[in-house]
Amino acid sequence: MKKIHYSELGLVNTKEMFSRAMTGKYAVPAYNFNNMEQLQAIITGCIRSNSPVILQVSGSARNYIGAGFLPHLAAAARSMVEEARSAIPVALHLDHGNSFELAKSCIEAGFSSVMIDASHHSFEENAKLSREVVEYAHDNDVTVEAELGVLAGIEDEVVAEKSSYTRPEEVEKFLEMTGVDSLAISIGTSHGAHKFKLKPGEEPPPLKFDILEEIERRVPGFPIVLHGASSVMAKHIEQINRFGGKMENTAGIPEEQLRRAAALAVCKVNIDSDGRLAMTAAIRQIFAEKPSEFDPRKYLGPARDELTEMIIHKNTQVLGSAGRY
Ligand code: 13P
Repeated sequence: MKKIHYSELGLVNTKEMFSRAMTGKYAVPAYNFNNMEQLQAIITGCIRSNSPVILQVSGSARNYIGAGFLPHLAAAARSMVEEARSAIPVALHLDHGNSFELAKSCIEAGFSSVMIDASHHSFEENAKLSREVVEYAHDNDVTVEAELGVLAGIEDEVVAEKSSYTRPEEVEKFLEMTGVDSLAISIGTSHGAHKFKLKPGEEPPPLKFDILEEIERRVPGFPIVLHGASSVMAKHIEQINRFGGKMENTAGIPEEQLRRAAALAVCKVNIDSDGRLAMTAAIRQIFAEKPSEFDPRKYLGPARDELTEMIIHKNTQVLGSAGRY
């Protein structure tokens, strides 16, 4: 495959996005996508709310889309921004990269940012692999996210049954050893649409803000990333169940907790499940109400609209990234 630098696609790395987010006390949204409709909804939502955006794909999402096809989608997303005469910056990020080879292959295919997730390995191995990716990425002006601590949950190829919180005392050494540009931490979020099963009247447990604050105290101004940040919006769960689905008793991270994290050192918030739920809810409704419908535009179109509205809601009401560009 021909090598492409992300600047040829009109993309940017995350450096300036994060420094502005840190000063402005908000978080940049990182939305996962797997297809054209999701990508269009994300970009449209971010253009309409004047929010910077990180488009992210996991390794398996990249395989699903096609490694050769993906740069064209990213370029198309940038064209949408230009056509709308919008100034929002767009980054293309590898989510949960699990090897040097995958990170390198993405960098050579136009990604402006990569995550190397070696958080399941020992501290030393995690630092070693992260450092290796940083050296290659920085030579190409690509930013790197690594992870310390383990999130529970299931997400594409990442599966962990139990979480372990990030240990703040390890952070400084890890940053020194690796030179990464941002760090994902574990403070009580988890991947997937089944984060908490609550009894009536029960609230999800609060995030470990003491850990986040201790990390901020040790490395002030360093960009922190929050994975597993979907809220599992009740209206979409209700809509899915009303129209034939079965997703009972599930809850995610409350919006006010995400707001609080975004005003602290969290500069990037990862959202995947909420986007999947929004589209599924809209599609289920169409199929239930119009069982004879078979034109994909008639169900993917409304699904795209629902996702666009959700993106605008997150940017304006939760992350504070709206109106920044
Ligand atoms: P959610 O499953 O909470 O959307 O988390 C997504 C994520 O962290 C992607 O890396």
